[in-house]
Amino acid sequence: MKNFRSEAHRLADWIADYLENPERFPVLSRVRPGAIRNALPSSAPDAGESFEAIFSDFERIVVPGLTHWNHPGFFAYFAITASAPGILAEFLSAALNQQAMLWRTSPAATELEDVTLSWLRQLIGLPDTFEGVIYDTASISTLHALAAAREAAIPDVRARGLSGRFEPAGVRVYCSEHAHSSVDKAVILLGLGHDAVVRIPADAEFRMRPDLLAAAIDGDRAAGRLPLAAIATVGTTSSTSVDPVADIAALCQPAGIWLHIDAAYAGVAAMVPGYEWMLRGAEHADSLVVNPHKWLFTPFDLSVLYCRRMDVLRQAFSLTPEYLKTAEAEAGVRNLMDTGIQLGRRFRALKLWMILRHFGAEGLRAALAEHMRLARVFAGWVDASDRFERVAPVPFSVVCFRLKHASDADHARLLDAVNASGEVFLSHTRLDGRYVLRLAIGNLATREAHVRRAWDLLNIL
Ligand SMILES: Cc1ncc(COP(=O)(O)O)c(C=O)c1O
Repeated sequence: MKNFRSEAHRLADWIADYLENPERFPVLSRVRPGAIRNALPSSAPDAGESFEAIFSDFERIVVPGLTHWNHPGFFAYFAITASAPGILAEFLSAALNQQAMLWRTSPAATELEDVTLSWLRQLIGLPDTFEGVIYDTASISTLHALAAAREAAIPDVRARGLSGRFEPAGVRVYCSEHAHSSVDKAVILLGLGHDAVVRIPADAEFRMRPDLLAAAIDGDRAAGRLPLAAIATVGTTSSTSVDPVADIAALCQPAGIWLHIDAAYAGVAAMVPGYEWMLRGAEHADSLVVNPHKWLFTPFDLSVLYCRRMDVLRQAFSLTPEYLKTAEAEAGVRNLMDTGIQLGRRFRALKLWMILRHFGAEGLRAALAEHMRLARVFAGWVDASDRFERVAPVPFSVVCFRLKHASDADHARLLDAVNASGEVFLSHTRLDGRYVLRLAIGNLATREAHVRRAWDLLNIL
């Protein structure tokens, strides 16, 4: 590119304008399926094109097909923020093109990851017996945690695999009926068979029942099955309920069952004074995942796996061909390729480091506390309403609610109408078999006026 400097300036301006006012776009894209594909040529151009032409098509064709996760009216799923320091770090990371498979291929990326994850670990109150590693998503973090659990529980699994070894009884992985589907995918991928997943019923507040977990473990033991791992969720996807970690740990630890905590969304809230309770007992877990790309203002993607038995994870994944051998590895430096399935590693730690420094612990705590305050404000409106009712406690920044006396179809119609406004975007789930609307707060630009607008739209449409 001949004019990189001027194009970079132009892009920086475009991005700054975007971040200042994402509300000029509808939060939920209005394009129809196929619209973007049909607007583009079916094969790549023979001759290179100017950046001018490419960027013009970006604005004309691509932008209308964007759903704006950085919009303050984004209240669907788990709302997130690509904060300014994180975006700048992504610029740098792209330009520097670090590939941190080995310590020597990026000493800075390797060591900054260590330091930054130690800072985050301290902020959420995990002891220094946990070592951290960055992956792209919580699904991959959980996959690695369960691979370590398999490595710990099944002798020689790395060499001999699984085939025929646990028939007909099988192994078991326990989680609540509200656990994320990434648990199922990990179990399937690890060759344990989907039937290995045992979903333990929850109580009236959607928390796993430890008495039923204990009964399941006893029953499986008696039947000759191998209880391999349990997953406690801190902030379930639908309602953000918190499984009783300490009670679950008390069952798992003496039984040698690997305990993995899925705190992908809510884990960061443990840094807010008054919320330490949510990870009580986590010190006895074997691993824990938390996603800064969910609620710590980090541009997608960045997930952190903390593991108390990183040696087991390394045992499962470390494999060094001749061409990757280095003298410093012999001397004990950390090579990030040893703690995962990937060889190549992006420089993700840079954005988390810049975010932790830019906001400081106080800034992060204040932003999280404000999101939780806004959720309580919205919950208060729901509770005082004749038209709506709340269907779950609000421990963090998500409110689950529904229309009183209305069908699933009525709810779906209301959701579509509200989302068609382009001003806000909410999503839904199902709890106790009923259709439930969800409002999730997690964007740094979201103010009470945005939450109020969502409430007004829900009431006038
Ligand atoms: C509790 C929980 N765990 C795991 C995940 C998967 O996250 P990721 O998209 O990072 O794989 C989600 C996604 O929302 C989640 O809510």
